[in-house]
Amino acid sequence: MKTEERTFVAIKPDGVKRGMIGKILERFENKGFKIVAMKLLQVTPDLAAKHYEEHQGKPFYNRLVHYITSGPIVAMVVEGYEAIESVRHIVGATNPQKADVGTIRADFAQVMEYNIIHASDSPESAQREINLYFKPEEIYDNWQSMLEMITFDEERFQG
Ligand code: CMP
Repeated sequence: MKTEERTFVAIKPDGVKRGMIGKILERFENKGFKIVAMKLLQVTPDLAAKHYEEHQGKPFYNRLVHYITSGPIVAMVVEGYEAIESVRHIVGATNPQKADVGTIRADFAQVMEYNIIHASDSPESAQREINLYFKPEEIYDNWQSMLEMITFDEERFQG
């Protein structure tokens, strides 16, 4: 049985400034994922340090913090079956030059430092990042998406 998961996704400042919000969201909606939380926000240096604490000390860390704080991001919580791995497939490899054609990073970005989107890489980071950006009351999943209605009937769905 496949597990329903939540993952954290952020359209980075380059994606917002280039007017790519709609095109990126469309990919997740086309897949049938349920967007259960979403907001436009300015990442502060403090929030950036918390989000990217695992990269502190790396050569690219200061540039990464500068990039993620350089304009608003669109943060969201995406829900669906095996969502963490599945969203990362749609997002593509960290380096857009190596990302598979058809993924967001391959199609919309050229270099690792401006890779347009972030997605959690494990259940632990998904939980941590969701908690960092959203209060529990900002997550709305008390509704059924069309795909849930027609496909994932709990009585019949075997995963
Ligand atoms: P993201 O998925 O947000 O996770 C960490 C980010 O750091 C990554 O996307 C890139 O934006 C950036 N990053 C990771 N590795 C490098 C690197 N070697 N050089 C520059 N930026 C990097």
